[in-house]
Amino acid sequence: MHHFIRDQATLAYEDTGAGPPLLLLHAFPLSSAMWQAQRASLSARFRVLAPDLRGFGGSSVQPEVSMRLFAEDAVALLDHVGVLKASVVGLSMGGYAALELLALAPHRVSALALCDTRANADDEAGRRAREETARAVERDGVEVLVQRMLPKLLAPDAAEGVEAKVASMIRAVQPAGAAAALRAMGARRDMSEALGRIGCPTLVLAGEHDGITPPEVAEKMASAIPYSTLEIVPGAGHLANLEAPEAFDAALIGFLDEAL
Ligand code: MLT
Repeated sequence: MHHFIRDQATLAYEDTGAGPPLLLLHAFPLSSAMWQAQRASLSARFRVLAPDLRGFGGSSVQPEVSMRLFAEDAVALLDHVGVLKASVVGLSMGGYAALELLALAPHRVSALALCDTRANADDEAGRRAREETARAVERDGVEVLVQRMLPKLLAPDAAEGVEAKVASMIRAVQPAGAAAALRAMGARRDMSEALGRIGCPTLVLAGEHDGITPPEVAEKMASAIPYSTLEIVPGAGHLANLEAPEAFDAALIGFLDEAL
């Protein structure tokens, strides 16, 4: 794990392999650890950069974050490692941050993969639920997230090993980091209008059984993006890269082979 300092915050990241740069932005409430299989399989062909978003993993926790701040941190990482342009892969919350990154610095993005994610913002009920969960996490700890989220993150018949792995990643999160990200997701802006202006090749991917951002959401998003490819990963739930790593990697590599 590498680190650099930005605005007095420590930002942690993994940097593996050589080749065209690939920036992997993780889901909530996980960390760069969720990309372990992709780092192993993709680093033979790509330079894989996987940050811990602010508040997660080895990165500093602070009371307030935003999708914009995650995007700025990601651009700062590219600057720090001397990468001008990267293919940006964001899964779920990582996808929200990826869309902000594209809005902030389109010239830094060669290709985009929006995985198990959505462009629209939370509605009022969604925002209230985020706030309620953030308070529960602050009061009772991240076990609240294991109980509330784990059943939704994976397909009903996900392998037992995957469930245990995800549970242990959630338990590693600091409550303050999780609460800050929940509020940031609740406050994120609607990016639906921006989809039609995406100028780079874009992969939209979803697990067949994703209950949080179902395939219909991915289909709608792909149809709004000019240069898009849609992939539905059979058998996978919301965390498609963990549940079906081979199919996920094959879809991503196939897309990047065409796009780059
Ligand atoms: C994630 O996987 O990052 C979260 O489920 C996203 C969300 O809660 O909106």
